[in-house]
Amino acid sequence: MTRIYAAVSNKGGAGKTTLVTLLAGEYALRGDRVLLIDADGRLNLSGWWRLCQSKNNVPENISLIVAAAGRTIATEIARLRSLFDLIIIDAPGIDGTVQETIIGCSELVLSPIQPGIKEIEAAGQAAANVCAINDRRGSHILHLNVRTRITIPGRNLEAYRYIRPFVVGLRQAGYETDLLDTELFERNVYREIQNGLGTLQMQELSEPIRKARQEVLNLVEEIEARQRAAIRGDAA
Ligand SMILES: Nc1ncnc2c1ncn2[C@@H]1O[C@H](COP(=O)(O)OP(=O)(O)OP(=O)(O)O)[C@@H](O)[C@H]1O
Ligand SMILES: [Mg+2]
Repeated sequence: MTRIYAAVSNKGGAGKTTLVTLLAGEYALRGDRVLLIDADGRLNLSGWWRLCQSKNNVPENISLIVAAAGRTIATEIARLRSLFDLIIIDAPGIDGTVQETIIGCSELVLSPIQPGIKEIEAAGQAAANVCAINDRRGSHILHLNVRTRITIPGRNLEAYRYIRPFVVGLRQAGYETDLLDTELFERNVYREIQNGLGTLQMQELSEPIRKARQEVLNLVEEIEARQRAAIRGDAA
């Protein structure tokens, strides 16, 4: 069965595209055939892809298409899903019907949260949108939040300390969402790969890369554990 993930936050610059490339690299390394859908009309993900092509750094096991309109996203998924193990959709940093289509196509929606009030609110909005779609369709799309661009001093920020209680508050308000324990740190390599260096997993294994790889591996393992738990919960 092809899994479909999406990175969704209506806050521009929240970290969606970065998260998408990190996850894609990890799954591709495991041998999964990964399709990336750039659903953002500003084409950041495709820009990275083009640079990778021009520098001969196209990642193995990853393909990319652009589909920025709701109908095209659904048609392309229907056309291509049998060819891939995992599809990851990079959503635009705005609200609207495209976001709704993207969520509706997915089984897992990930919202990156930087320690900033706008990013936190945008993740809350994504959680609400996922729940509204689940309620309407009787579906079980999972929504998870992942902290990103975290630094050690940044953990003292009020906004950082507000993230967990905010997500707890969402759950208490009836939204099925959760916060992953794994955080993505602010790392130079996460920026640098955007310049066409391929995926994180293609970089030479220096100490900073090893740390980044471990972080992303932890993230994938946690995501999968949450998915298994959600499936068990549904079955119960
Ligand atoms: N964990 C991180 N460490 C370092 N830089 C990061 C990290 N996450 C994101 N960035 C940087 O922050 C900027 C915005 O990130 P990104 O493009 O992933 O966000 P986005 O949500 O996709 O934005 P948009 O809504 O504009 O598409 C980029 O320059 C990216 O390199
Ligand atoms: Mg983006």
